[in-house]
Amino acid sequence: MRIVESIHEMRDITKRARIEGKIIGFVPTMGSFHEGHLSLMKRGIEEVDLLVISIFVNPTQFGQGEDYDRYPRNIDEDNKKASELGVDIIFYPNVEEIYPDNYHTFVTVEKINNKLCGASRPGFFKGVATVVTKLFNIVRPHKAYFGEKDYQQLVVIRRIEKDLNMDIKIVGMPIIRESDGLAMSSRNLYLTDKERISALSLSRSLNKAKKMVHSGERSAERIISEMRSIIESERFTEIDYIAVCDPEEFDDVDEIKKRTLIALAVMIGKARLIDNCIVEVK
Ligand code: PAJ
Repeated sequence: MRIVESIHEMRDITKRARIEGKIIGFVPTMGSFHEGHLSLMKRGIEEVDLLVISIFVNPTQFGQGEDYDRYPRNIDEDNKKASELGVDIIFYPNVEEIYPDNYHTFVTVEKINNKLCGASRPGFFKGVATVVTKLFNIVRPHKAYFGEKDYQQLVVIRRIEKDLNMDIKIVGMPIIRESDGLAMSSRNLYLTDKERISALSLSRSLNKAKKMVHSGERSAERIISEMRSIIESERFTEIDYIAVCDPEEFDDVDEIKKRTLIALAVMIGKARLIDNCIVEVK
């Protein structure tokens, strides 16, 4: 496994690989790997000839007062995990090269950038869309892997790929959870033991929602109210949003009639956690 820090060197490697006819896969990350990240890499390794992953804690997707400075950084452990899996290249650029002093260009996905997480984290999707576009332009992969844990992010990236004619296959991968249901996240490291117990209410509320839909409940209001009471019955929880919405445009729905996204964001202590599920009705 090679660790590449410069944009120039990264470009050169994939340019050559393309000439050799290799299929290039890409997994962008902010590091501090858990099984969620590793699941994307494993899939990539199975499917492509050259798997590149990036580790870059992207400053433009963090708002003021958010956790950019204390976001976990575990580069040595990350290197070890990636190399054991068989990742070919870790792209590990520095902030100054990605965003030099005179940097002015940003990518905005209209409309959906203001919904759900975008409503509570203004500028977040602009930062994500910009860095992912830049990384795509540097690595020039054929395929890129993203987790459904960040469902709205996945949809934003599919939109950029389509709207900007990038010709990259975007592969969405299922949410990886701890055995007790907690969706894996680098931010779970912020939780104290007691907060972690409260955090289980997120997946519990989603499971309850799924059960309700399965038993015939179609009212978004009743589902949200049930989920809210499960989460609020736990200490340390502060709900940011619970949404029952269209999975492409993120418009709220009153009644579940077709494929629908149920998504939530909850502050627990210092951690802002998100989780979601898709429900299908005929
Ligand atoms: P990060 O949070 O490090 O996540 C990197 C990738 O891992 C994302 O595609 C995310 O959806 C996926 N992932 C995280 N937790 C997961 C889980 N429990 N199960 C499955 N997949 C999971 O998302 C980002 O970084 C950044 O916004 C990035 C796209 C790299 C842009 O900076």
